[in-house]
Amino acid sequence: MRCGRAWPTASDPCGGADARTPQRTDPMAQAIVKGCVRAKVLANPSGPGRFHSNPFNARSTADHVLAGVDLTGRRFVVTGCSSGIGFETMNSLAANGAHVVGLARSWPAAAEACLRVGPTCTAVACDLSDLDSVADAAGAIRALNAPLDAIIANAGTAYLPTLSTRYGVEMQFLVNHVGHFALVKQLCGMVRNGTGRIVLVSGATRAKPSPREGIMFDNLDGSRFYQPATFYRQSKLAVALCAKELARRLQGRGIAVNAVDPGATGGTQLVRHVRQPLLIRAVSRLFRKDAKRAAATQALLAASPRVAGISGELWADCRIAEGPALLGDVDLAKRLWEVSEGIVDAHTLPEKLRDAA
Ligand SMILES: NC(=O)c1ccc[n+]([C@@H]2O[C@H](COP(=O)([O-])OP(=O)(O)OC[C@H]3O[C@@H](n4cnc5c(N)ncnc54)[C@H](OP(=O)(O)O)[C@@H]3O)[C@@H](O)[C@H]2O)c1
Repeated sequence: MRCGRAWPTASDPCGGADARTPQRTDPMAQAIVKGCVRAKVLANPSGPGRFHSNPFNARSTADHVLAGVDLTGRRFVVTGCSSGIGFETMNSLAANGAHVVGLARSWPAAAEACLRVGPTCTAVACDLSDLDSVADAAGAIRALNAPLDAIIANAGTAYLPTLSTRYGVEMQFLVNHVGHFALVKQLCGMVRNGTGRIVLVSGATRAKPSPREGIMFDNLDGSRFYQPATFYRQSKLAVALCAKELARRLQGRGIAVNAVDPGATGGTQLVRHVRQPLLIRAVSRLFRKDAKRAAATQALLAASPRVAGISGELWADCRIAEGPALLGDVDLAKRLWEVSEGIVDAHTLPEKLRDAA
C-alpha cells in the first residue's frame, strides 16, 4: 500500500497509531448558544478552551485572529497553499512561529509559495484529483515524524465548465471532497489527541441547496446531467457533512473538527472558469472580502485558543453559522462517509492486496 500504514477501519476511523495522549471518553460536556445556533463543545473541563468569548467577525483578518498567539513548535498542514485563501492562511500561521507543511497541486507551486512565506514552511506536492498523489503526500508528511496540531483542507476547484471524471466521480466532488477525505484519513492518526484540530473548507452554504437532495448518489459521475454550479455546491455540502461525521468519529480523541465557509472572496483564482460581464464583475467585487479576511475563520479554528473544544460546527465570518438544514441529516452524512470510503478503497485496496502478496 502506498501510504505504508494500515488503512483505518470502521472502529478506528483514523488509524490512531500515532496518538500519544490518553483518549478522552467523556461525552459532549456543554452547549453554548451563539445567536440562535447551539454549538457542541468537546469535554475539556480543565483546559483553556472551556469557553471563550469571540470578538472577531467578517472584517477580521487571519493576522487579527492570531495576534498574540505563539505557534512556535506547532505544526500545521494547509492544502491549496499556492494561492488565495490558502496562501494567506499559511502566511499568518508561519508569521506566528508555526511550521506549516504547504500542499499544492505540484511541487514547484508548493515550493514557490513556501519560499515566499519563509523558512518554516515545507513544500509537499499533492494533486487532490489523484489518489496516488494524495497517498504520496500523506507518506511524505508522516515521514516528517512529528505530530500535527491541525490540518486545514482548503484547496478547491469550482465551476468546471465541462464534465470530467476520475474514479467514477465528477472532478469537483473528487478534488474538493474525496481527495481531502483520503488525505485527512491518512493523516489524522498524526493529529494530537486532546488539542488537535481539523478544518474543512466548505462554501456556498448560504445559497439555496442544490441539488435539493444534497448529494446525488445516483449521479456522482454526472452521467445523468452535469451543471457546474450544482456540482460545486454538492461538493461543498459534502465537505461540510464530512466535517460533521468526522467530528462525531473523533470526539473520543478530543480532536475538534469544523467546517468553514470563507464567504465571497475577491482576488483569488477560484472563479477562473467563470465568464462574467465586466460590469457584474466590478459590482460584485464591492461585496467581496479579500483573501486575508477570508482566511480569518480557518486560522481561528486551526490555531486560536479562543475556540478550543468547539467541534462539529459550520463557521462563517469567525462565528458559528446555521448552514443548510441538510447539514443536520446524520444519515446523509453517514451514507456519504461510506460512499466516499468505497471510492477511496476501490482505488487503494487492490494495490494493498498486491503489496501484501
Ligand atoms: N473565493 C471564494 O469566493 C470562496 C467562497 C467560498 C469558499 N471558497 C473555498 O475556499 C477555498 C480556497 O479558495 P480560493 O478562493 O483561495 O481559490 P484559489 O485561489 O483558486 O485557491 C484554491 C487552491 O486550491 C488548489 N487546487 C485546485 N485544484 C487542486 C488539485 N486538484 N489538487 C491540489 N490543489 C488544487 C489551487 O491550486 P492551482 O492554482 O494549482 O489550481 C489553489 O492553490 C476553496 O476550497 C474554495 O472552494 C472560496
